[in-house]
Amino acid sequence: MNIEHLRSSFQLVAPKAEFLADTFYSTLFERYPGVKPLFKNVKLKQQKGKLVASLAFIVENLENGEKLSGYLQDMGQRHVSYGTEVPHYAAVGECLLVALATTAGEAWSKELEASWAEAYGAVADLMIAGAKREKKAS
Ligand code: HEM
Repeated sequence: MNIEHLRSSFQLVAPKAEFLADTFYSTLFERYPGVKPLFKNVKLKQQKGKLVASLAFIVENLENGEKLSGYLQDMGQRHVSYGTEVPHYAAVGECLLVALATTAGEAWSKELEASWAEAYGAVADLMIAGAKREKKAS
């Protein structure tokens, strides 16, 4: 995984975090209206901030596998109670890539697309592992 590539591209979009989050949720709700009920009691403005802060934390800790793994599994475990199902992860990944590409504009490239898709896949796998742990426990 090209960590420097991921980090420099995230730094590029970070100043436009609000646009990134707006684009992500509008794409998600447009392409996957079935997920809307999960967010019906959620304050979207705050949620957008949490998503961006979480992405920043992930990008900051890419070398710290153990810390990141614990963080993501715990977060996946919590997501079970939000109603998140395994297929939702692919939908979110697709819309996140659209939002990153739109926000990065001309700076976006096939290489960045591939790096982010790989990174998101690893993030989703760890969250799903945490979710499975939760489902087994309950
Ligand atoms: C990379 C993947 C994801 C990241 C980084 C992420 C990040 C977050 C964060 C940081 C929160 C705040 C609450 C907490 O920390 O537990 C949250 C809440 C939430 N997430 Fe995610 N999430 C991801 C994937 C998903 C997916 C696939 C869904 C399903 C559509 C989803 C639905 C929700 C909902 C509904 C909440 C609101 C919970 C509430 O306040 O009731 N998330 N997410």
